[in-house]
Amino acid sequence: MKNAIRYYTKSKKGNTKKLADAVSAALGIEALDVSSDLSEKTDRLFLINAMYAANIDKEVVRFLERNRENIGEIVNMNTSASGASTLSAVKKTADAFGIPVSEKEFHCAASWIFINKGLPTEEDLKRAGEFASGLAE
Ligand SMILES: Cc1cc2nc3c(=O)[nH]c(=O)nc-3n(C[C@H](O)[C@H](O)[C@H](O)COP(=O)(O)O)c2cc1C
Repeated sequence: MKNAIRYYTKSKKGNTKKLADAVSAALGIEALDVSSDLSEKTDRLFLINAMYAANIDKEVVRFLERNRENIGEIVNMNTSASGASTLSAVKKTADAFGIPVSEKEFHCAASWIFINKGLPTEEDLKRAGEFASGLAE
């Protein structure tokens, strides 16, 4: 099975990039941002994203649209300040492009302005790596 990692991080804190780096280290594959298209068919895409204005960023949507033919399945991994997951937003977009989405996802709360200081923790990042390793073959 071919795995790939793509992430989109918007804030200066780079919470999503922290998650992506943890997954990259756990799987031993490079984590690239969504400006890098998939060069070949990928069985499992670890899509690492965050909630912005109660949705996923349009850069993530554009990546999925451009790369839909090369994605076998999305595994959603995400953070938000509220604790809500982006899974329904990712699914809605993926459905529109005909991309399957795994029911298994990773989510954790993360910092935003003055809230959730110190999140994600090292433990959260460890759990993110373990989640991805548990799915990747
Ligand atoms: C512009 C902006 C809008 C956000 N909107 C929401 C939101 O609607 N709901 C929420 O729970 N968190 C929201 N957040 C918090 C982010 O989901 C959280 O800080 C996330 O970890 C950011 O990841 P990043 O550092 O990789 O950009 C927002 C953050 C930013 C920067």
